[in-house]
Amino acid sequence: MTDLFDFAPPPPLYAVMGNPVDHSLSPQIHGMFARQFDMALDYRRVHVDVGGFKQAVDSFRAAGGQGVNVTIPFKIDAWELADRRTERTEAAGAANTLWFKDNLIHADNTDGAGLVRDITANIAFDVAGRRVLIVGAGGAVRGVLGPLLGETPAALAIANRSVDKAEALAQLFAGRARVETTGFEALKGRSFDLVVNGTSASLKGELPPLPQGLFSRGALAYDMMYSREGTPFLHWAAEHGAAQCADGLGMLVEQAAESFYVWHGKRPDTAPVIEKLKWSA
Ligand code: ATR
Repeated sequence: MTDLFDFAPPPPLYAVMGNPVDHSLSPQIHGMFARQFDMALDYRRVHVDVGGFKQAVDSFRAAGGQGVNVTIPFKIDAWELADRRTERTEAAGAANTLWFKDNLIHADNTDGAGLVRDITANIAFDVAGRRVLIVGAGGAVRGVLGPLLGETPAALAIANRSVDKAEALAQLFAGRARVETTGFEALKGRSFDLVVNGTSASLKGELPPLPQGLFSRGALAYDMMYSREGTPFLHWAAEHGAAQCADGLGMLVEQAAESFYVWHGKRPDTAPVIEKLKWSA
């Protein structure tokens, strides 16, 4: 006979929603974080049809879900769906972390904090006073601009194929910091201390048309995408004078750690998780 007191409540239910989502490392990452605290956690991948984000969140809440990480292409939908947004999320116009409290949907965006933490703490590259170039002006860049500006670089430029998209993005921060915008051609003859690739080019095995001489002495090349084989941008950077190259695996783990903290109030140790994924992802 089962002892009444043996009854254990089901573990709290979380998920990552995206399309595609099959290869998301988030369940593995959050699972490793939870084990650091001996926490039970049920974290799933949920494939969502385009146009079906709200319905997916509603069903997940009805099933007892407590929080959701959001990935491509639903980060703007998540922002729009939220009843309450943190300050950094408001500016980003996109959300990657949702939780449900007092019958309200709360949203945060931990991508920028994840990128900054990877660059400043893991790679130990100080952004303050440096010249920074961000390549790309899509949703991924939107989420990280505010936190990067918060590190007080000497100058920050956004380069994009369609310059008007970069200008629209810079406008969002007009009152706060001077953000320069440029096309790729005009980068000739200029150099930067930190170049962040935030385009989706790496996903397609492509390389943005960047000129030679882009990296100043000691420069860091950072690709927000990650790939075990390296990305076209990082291969190019290594051959064209970048002193250090890093892919987005550290950012992925750090943004997850920030989400974990938002949800559970505990800060996981990210180093062993990054190390483990480096060899198995
Ligand atoms: P995400 O949400 O991942 O940022 P997005 O909003 O579609 O996706 O933005 C993709 C970004 O990658 C854009 O800045 C895009 O440039 P355009 O705005 O000019 O289209 C950029 N991008 C994609 N492929 C590229 C390539 N091969 N070379 C240069 N930029 C590229």
